[in-house]
Amino acid sequence: MATRVGKKKRPSREKHMLKEQLVIEEGVFDRRSIMRIEKLFTHKIISRLLFLIAKGKEADVYLADAGEEVHGDHVAVKIFRIETSSFYSRVDYMIGDPRFPKIKRSTFWIVNEWCKKEYGNLKIASHAKVHAPEPYYFNGNVLALEFIGNGENVAPQLKNIVLDEPEKVLKTILSDVKKLYQHELVHADLSEYNILMHDGTPYIIDFGQAVIDKHPNAMMFLKRDIYNITNYFRRKYQIRTDVEEVYQYVIGKNSTYSL
Ligand SMILES: Nc1ncnc2c1ncn2[C@@H]1O[C@H](COP(=O)(O)OP(=O)(O)OP(=O)(O)O)[C@@H](O)[C@H]1O
Ligand SMILES: [Mg+2]
Repeated sequence: MATRVGKKKRPSREKHMLKEQLVIEEGVFDRRSIMRIEKLFTHKIISRLLFLIAKGKEADVYLADAGEEVHGDHVAVKIFRIETSSFYSRVDYMIGDPRFPKIKRSTFWIVNEWCKKEYGNLKIASHAKVHAPEPYYFNGNVLALEFIGNGENVAPQLKNIVLDEPEKVLKTILSDVKKLYQHELVHADLSEYNILMHDGTPYIIDFGQAVIDKHPNAMMFLKRDIYNITNYFRRKYQIRTDVEEVYQYVIGKNSTYSL
């Protein structure tokens, strides 16, 4: 089913283009998502929706040609699926975060807040000058962000490549974890899956679950992030780091840690 593009007004050229594309993507988008994607065209964030690049647990990520309002050639469009019951488990990453004083028991509400939360978290990461995609725009369950990749090729996940300089990459990741913490944010799902390698630099992605350091479990999430990432480098590259030492470095009690 294609989108309905207004009853009275003649549809714009962009809407015509989108309509054609949505015929290709038939059945993928619900009506609300379609209207929100249309906004990406009208706000000149994207000029063409290209293809699906990844199907995550809760969201589908599409590649799009960049519109006039953003730099670069491409944009990643993350569309959170509305009918995803797993979102109820995500409430744990919202209750206790001062940004969410009230939690509603509605799937629509949770999905939209989650998308807004990822946008806000990415804004903090951008401020902190962390290697992470710049967020451009969100509307409901649709998030547009900087595309990490070359041409139309998505940068590979850390888990799928063999690094030439693993120590250097680990240092960059831990330094970014520290910068995030200095800006009161804990990623809370850091792993070799949520890091994309682009031109030798690790980019942290997937910030939906990231919490403010006031969250009651923030320090536990931070330790878990440090454990997961250092453990990955230990298993794959035999780089040994002490989790406690790295933790002290991240929270600012140690100026360094040994590799
Ligand atoms: N900004 C981006 N640039 C390029 N590719 C991206 C970007 N964001 C996401 N992707 C691609 O989409 C995949 C899923 O993205 P992300 O981890 O943010 O979504 P998710 O639904 O939480 O996925 P999962 O449930 O698998 O963790 C990534 O592994 C990556 O391949
Ligand atoms: Mg992910």
